[in-house]
Amino acid sequence: MPDTPFPRAVITRRTLLTAAGAGAVAAALAACTADAPPVPTPTAAPSPTPWSPPSEPMRFPTGFTWGAATSAFQVEGSLAADGRTPSVWDTFAARAGTIRDGSTGEPAADQYRRYEEDADLMASLGLGAYRFSISWSRVVPTSTGTIDSRGVDHYRRVIDALAGRGIRPAITLFHWDLPQWVQDAGGWIRRETADLFAEYATACFEAFGDVDADWMTLNEPKTHAYVGHWYGAHAPGLRSSDVAAAAVHHQLLAHGRAVERFRLSGAAGRIGIALNLIPVYPTDPAQPEAAVRVDARENRLFLDPVLLGTYPDDAVGGEAGQLPADPVTFTGLQKSGDLETIAAPLDFLAVQYYGVTGVNPGGRETQVAPTSAAPWQQVLPEGLYDLLTRLAADYPAIPLLITENGIPDRSPAVTVDDPERLEFFRTHFQQAARAISDGVPLEGYYAWSLLDNFEWAEGYTQRWGIVAVDFETQERMPKRSAGFYADVIAANAVPPAKHTSWIGSINPRAVAG
Ligand code: FCB
Repeated sequence: MPDTPFPRAVITRRTLLTAAGAGAVAAALAACTADAPPVPTPTAAPSPTPWSPPSEPMRFPTGFTWGAATSAFQVEGSLAADGRTPSVWDTFAARAGTIRDGSTGEPAADQYRRYEEDADLMASLGLGAYRFSISWSRVVPTSTGTIDSRGVDHYRRVIDALAGRGIRPAITLFHWDLPQWVQDAGGWIRRETADLFAEYATACFEAFGDVDADWMTLNEPKTHAYVGHWYGAHAPGLRSSDVAAAAVHHQLLAHGRAVERFRLSGAAGRIGIALNLIPVYPTDPAQPEAAVRVDARENRLFLDPVLLGTYPDDAVGGEAGQLPADPVTFTGLQKSGDLETIAAPLDFLAVQYYGVTGVNPGGRETQVAPTSAAPWQQVLPEGLYDLLTRLAADYPAIPLLITENGIPDRSPAVTVDDPERLEFFRTHFQQAARAISDGVPLEGYYAWSLLDNFEWAEGYTQRWGIVAVDFETQERMPKRSAGFYADVIAANAVPPAKHTSWIGSINPRAVAG
């Protein structure tokens, strides 16, 4: 069996903290770092469906949603305001050595206080929707379960600020910031956490059920389970694959319980779940077995229970590519009725797409596409097409939204000059339009992120915003990519390559806010 043609092992997000020295491919189409050492250019095109873009702009359907996303802990700051209590991320960031620059969620982008200004900014870009998350520990700060009206009132003001500008809210209930009081009771290791989540979700549906919103129960349960509970590089910093497997099942159970409560509440709007999915390409198509198992671990372990009501039988176990937890223990967590709950019908599936991975026959993840300044991210726009068409082919028909997609700036320095991101967006928009024209029911796209923010274990050293933030002054400065995005939104179309006269530089509307 030949070894992988790509000698460098893929640096996944799980190994991010030990990834010093990982670099970008010299011929990166988009997201290469300026100063990282080059690594070998991939020698195989992993996408099974190569494609050349048309020379004309590609149009999106009328009514397509264009938005941008953030999450509470990453942008809000004001961590002690209005009765908020700490989350696992407050606790984790306070521990020495957990965050690359030693920073915390304070001040982040100060959006707790600047949401009006940020809503103006969104309006100036022409955004039709804003995805944000609610901080559980603002709404239910203690184990008594009492709802804090100050937290609720804050998010009502945010929703009103958006409504006043014609911006539709997309609300995530859980974006990794578990209240510390829930963690202290056992966190996602414990089945009862699903019940606590359902209570919190119900409080949110009661408070905001009049709003026509797209709700998301969980953000990336995979990342939270694996990076937070298996590799320990995210909060709560645990390192056990069995605990990670429990976190998978109990998060999914929490999701299903919340969907059931949503239906009972009669809330307006729609509900779904945000899953980060990754096309997995075998480096040797004649020996795909290990890649199939990685696909099970990364994708089907989440898609199948939610959309089909079953767990795949090849995701968990001791074989190369699997989540190395005890399958018997994992199965033992599943009580009668759980899978029916987890498969409660959804209104949409929210897809978060950052790139692809390759897997060699030995089960080793390998690099098959250029990385961005985030070493775990292999950038391949065609992978988005492959993912979207695969979802449409393999699962029951369901509207799709892309609720995160983006790259970090090439360096930590604040800048508005981000040609890599502009090109990243252009090429990914083309693949989205291509998928739609091939029949995929894709209804919207949210850029990650609206603002530079606190990027988890990377602290403030990775800037993912389309709008730069000076964290000293909190000044907002739209980047070139924001101007490009505003043009795409205004035209509801993506231009062909390097169509600079069409793109413009910084769109005046983008800086007016
Ligand atoms: C996603 C997270 C989001 C942000 C981006 C870069 O996995 O959901 O909060 O960290 O990655």
